Amino acid sequence: MHPDHDLPADLLAASVARLRDSLTPRPDPASTVSVELPQILPDGGIGEAAALEQLADALLTGAAQLQHPGFMAHMDPPAPWITWITALWTAALNQNLLHDDTGAAARAIEAQVVDWLKPFFGMDGGHLTPGSTLANLTALWAAREIGGVRRVVASEHAHVSVPKSAAILGIRYESVPADAAHRLDPAALGPLDDAALVLTAGTTAVGAVDPLDAGVDAAWRHVDAAWAGPLRLSASHRGVLDGIGGADSVAMSAHKWLFQPKESALVLFADAGRAHRALAYGSGYLARPNVGVLGSHGAAAAAGLAASLLAWGRRGMAVRIDAEIERSQQLARLVAAHPDFVLWGQPATGIVVWRPAHYDAALVRSRMRDAFVSLATVDGAQWFRSVAANPNADPERVLAAAVEALP
Ligand SMILES: Cc1ncc(COP(=O)(O)O)c(C=O)c1O
Repeated sequence: MHPDHDLPADLLAASVARLRDSLTPRPDPASTVSVELPQILPDGGIGEAAALEQLADALLTGAAQLQHPGFMAHMDPPAPWITWITALWTAALNQNLLHDDTGAAARAIEAQVVDWLKPFFGMDGGHLTPGSTLANLTALWAAREIGGVRRVVASEHAHVSVPKSAAILGIRYESVPADAAHRLDPAALGPLDDAALVLTAGTTAVGAVDPLDAGVDAAWRHVDAAWAGPLRLSASHRGVLDGIGGADSVAMSAHKWLFQPKESALVLFADAGRAHRALAYGSGYLARPNVGVLGSHGAAAAAGLAASLLAWGRRGMAVRIDAEIERSQQLARLVAAHPDFVLWGQPATGIVVWRPAHYDAALVRSRMRDAFVSLATVDGAQWFRSVAANPNADPERVLAAAVEALP
């Protein structure tokens, strides 16, 4: 075997040990920048062990500690260990799902994962994408090709990837007002017979869910369920997304609430055969047409999802999602009961928006130690945003750190 592919067992063991050490909580969960690399591309290499050593500080010690008990901030879960193993396997074997020749097994796994998940959304097929930004783009591309849409209409709180997709596709974008709870106001919709209506299931800042039955006259209805889509797997919370099955397409990020490592998401279609035919490009060197935005792509997302869903089953995934909902409700209760903090509103889908009653949110956040929240501008003011996506997070610890940080 070429030495590039003959991984020394002691280096593997040392790398895994180093990884495990980096998961032990250190005082400050935020990412720190400690990258010391040569300014100019070195002519001679330092060897694999030394290169790993040099990068370890930045990649391991400098990484945001998503698994830290004080980290309740972004839509980025710590990745379960079963997905580290599949990620290592897929990186090492480097299959390409573009061709059957180089990825038949991985393609079959991707198709199976899509088949497992599609019924929860009332869709009949789809494919994986590296994120919901691309899932939204792919869905709106299909809307343009099949639905002939000439406008994209979405609430003022739609994710940036929605206007971005419209711009890429050369379609006019129109934003419509939402109510005080950040839900699209169906009364603000005009005729939609030439439009793709994008409804959001879990807005990025506050987690609001648009009325998913709005705009039935639209030429295409797409639900951006990047964040809250996984609630469909929960017997207790699936009703929050009732109506999603009436959509023409759905986007969902598995690297958010299905706890997958980046990059992992799905675009699903009510009529996937038709959508895929519209998004297919053939060429002489391809045994089958290339479907969707990506050309070459790897097996990591399909493998991680398959492993997690097999290991835990639907029920195990739902237990984890339900626990995050409970965690968000616990933080909301603690904040609501504290005189020095204000709760923006009850969390609809696991995102708690809150702030100090008498001090600037950014100032207090900068003084927080041993816990971390994100910041979001909501209704013109800055608020803390605590996304429940970390099974280790302790809401009492997060609130205590904020209390401690008050000037
Ligand atoms: C509602 C919504 N849609 C789309 C996206 C984009 O998803 P991704 O980050 O997976 O590209 C996000 C990301 O935060 C989101 O919150």
